[in-house]
Amino acid sequence: MHCQTLILGAGAAGMMAAAHAGPGVLVLDHAKKPGEKIRISGGGRCNFTNLYCDPNAFLSGNPHFVKSALARYTQWDFIDLVGRHGIAWHEKTLGQLFCDGKSTQIVDMLLKEMEKSGAQLWLETTVRQVRHSDGRFVTRVEKAGEPLEITSKNLILATGGKSIPKMGASGLAYEIAAQFGHALTETRPALVPLTFGDRFAGISGVSAKSLVSNDKASFPEALLFTHRGLSGPAILQISSYWREGEEIVVNLLPDLDLSRHFREMRRSQGRRAVSAELSAHLPTRLVAHLGQELDFKGNIADLSDARIAALSEGLTSWRLKPTGSEGYRTAEVTLGGVCTSGLDSKSLMSNHLPGLYVIGEAVDVTGWLGGYNFQWAWSSGVAAARHI
Ligand code: FDA
Repeated sequence: MHCQTLILGAGAAGMMAAAHAGPGVLVLDHAKKPGEKIRISGGGRCNFTNLYCDPNAFLSGNPHFVKSALARYTQWDFIDLVGRHGIAWHEKTLGQLFCDGKSTQIVDMLLKEMEKSGAQLWLETTVRQVRHSDGRFVTRVEKAGEPLEITSKNLILATGGKSIPKMGASGLAYEIAAQFGHALTETRPALVPLTFGDRFAGISGVSAKSLVSNDKASFPEALLFTHRGLSGPAILQISSYWREGEEIVVNLLPDLDLSRHFREMRRSQGRRAVSAELSAHLPTRLVAHLGQELDFKGNIADLSDARIAALSEGLTSWRLKPTGSEGYRTAEVTLGGVCTSGLDSKSLMSNHLPGLYVIGEAVDVTGWLGGYNFQWAWSSGVAAARHI
């Protein structure tokens, strides 16, 4: 069969592109259902965009690459689309917008938009081979056990990254892009919990406000201790900037000048126990754990200036070296991918093979936690669709 545009991947970016690319579009996916990552996202409520979406919230080999697509289809455009479908939403924190109801509302919205534009969707279809000859893409697939050949003028690669292989994530977009001469940048799990053996197993479930940094970035968000190490938004964020063997620095009291506070307390309430005072600012189980790691006992009056400085350093510049990360098994996204140098930033089309497009997470563009990755999927999908 022949179609104008074949889209591989019925995820966020592929469905968005199909909804905007006009008639003659066929979308293929090997999964049983479309948009499965949308369904499980944001704890089932889909953090679909961010009010403060800005190019600085994206990592890429070329930090300027995202600018054009994000400017041409903005968070406001998507908010408008969501509004037209009567989907109620709320801002949770830091500009992060979530559905009031279930995230499947976003999947249903995209399916309705695809239907309106006349796009076809084939699920449970396996891609066997793609080639390009006589100015057309020829894609061999298997659908319901039957081999089929699809020719198309355009081919959009939208099969996402490698995160959560259990959900069907695959490297297909990378393989096809590489086959057509595109360079790939190194891929690695991002927005992922960091592991520390069983060091924090005793305080698993405890969370605290924090500022987590390294020499590249800094995130003032919550931290969560787990059986395997550290998680929570601040850790997921810094994981995108972390490499094996490096340390991260945790400030457990970002809103307090701890040295000054302890010196004042020493004058006014010296008989108060150090652990009791810390428990007024941090979870009690965490204070008990830190008491062992940082060895604080006795009353505030017993603290010398040097001891106060050491305690303050220990709690506000806690240097931790992860043993690793939880990997693609739980990573929300994949860092790296199809190198932006081979793509046009306005249209996401290949610079050397007209008609080939790469969109969404498959591209070497990774957003922060907070709705940025979906906004990239929407913006890059629309950019390709409008160019076709
Ligand atoms: P996506 O992964 O959505 O879609 C790819 C599609 O291609 C899938 O349908 C897949 O089945 C299909 N496919 C893959 N390989 C194939 C093959 N070989 N043959 C055929 N089809 C194939 N982001 C955000 O902004 N806000 C949030 O709240 C969250 N929450 C979140 C939670 C969890 C648990 C995860 C794992 C991820 C998030 N994300 C997120 C990230 C977000 O889900 C992600 O960035 C986008 O879904 C990427 O959209 P794509 O369309 O590029 O890939």
